[in-house]
Amino acid sequence: MDPRIDKHLNSNIKDLINEFDGIQQALDKFEIGCAPCSLGTCKLKDVVGIHNLNAENEKELISQIFKIIYPDEIFDIPRIAQEKKNTGNTMSPPLRMLVNEHILIKRVLALAPKITEILDFSIPEHKMLILDIVDFIRSYADKYHHSKEEDILFKYFDSSLDIIKVMISDHVQSRSYVTEMFNAVETGNTLIAKNNLIYYCDLLTEHINKEDTILYPWMDNNLDTKQVGKMYSEFLSINNSKPEIQGKYEAIVNSFENFKL
Ligand SMILES: [Fe+2]
Ligand SMILES: [Fe+2]
Repeated sequence: MDPRIDKHLNSNIKDLINEFDGIQQALDKFEIGCAPCSLGTCKLKDVVGIHNLNAENEKELISQIFKIIYPDEIFDIPRIAQEKKNTGNTMSPPLRMLVNEHILIKRVLALAPKITEILDFSIPEHKMLILDIVDFIRSYADKYHHSKEEDILFKYFDSSLDIIKVMISDHVQSRSYVTEMFNAVETGNTLIAKNNLIYYCDLLTEHINKEDTILYPWMDNNLDTKQVGKMYSEFLSINNSKPEIQGKYEAIVNSFENFKL
C-alpha cells in the first residue's frame, strides 16, 4: 500500500478539513457530519469505519478525499470498515439490551412537550411529577443505563475516540440539567424546571439516536464473540443485582403517561 494512504488514514479529520478545501463537503455528501464530534481527534479511518458505509460508498468517499489532496494521482484504495455483521434487530444481546432500555427512556422524553406546556408548581402534584421524573432519570436512565455504557461497554474501546468522549460529555451535561430541575422544584421555579426538562430531552433524544444508529452498530461490529459474551454476563449481573428495577420503572413510566395534567 502507498504509505501516503496510511499516513492520511491516520491523520486527524479536523486537520485534513482545515488543510484541504472540499473535504468537509465530501463528508457531508455521505451524511458524515463531524460537527458533533467537535473535539477533533478522530482519525480519518475511524470516521470512515464508525459510519459503516458500504464498500462502494466507502471507496468513493476515500477516493474523493485523495483526489482533493492529490488532484493528479489515482490511488488503489483499501477497504477500511469490517463488513457489517450486525444491524438493527440482529444486534448482539448486550447491545440489544441497551437499545431496549432506550425505548423506556424515549417514552419519558416523548412526554416533555405536553408537560412543559402545562407545568405549574403552584399545583403540588406537578412538583411531585417532576421529582418522579428526576428519580426516573437518575435511577434508571443514569445509574442503570448510562453506567452500563460508561463502566462496561465503552471500556472495550479506545477511550480517546471522539465519539466516546462526546457520549460521556453528553451524560455529564444531562446530569447538570437534572440537578437544575431538582433545584427548581425546591425553589418552586416552574420556568427553570421547564427549560431544563426541554434541554435534557433535546440532548438525550439526539444522544440516543446517535447510539442506536451509529455508535452501537459500529461497536457491535468490532466486538468478537468472546467479548460479546463477557459483556452480556457483566450486564446481566447488574440486572440481577437490581431485579426489580425494570418492572418498577416501566410501571412508573405508565403512570407518567396516564398523569392528568
Ligand atoms: Fe449514552
Ligand atoms: Fe444509551
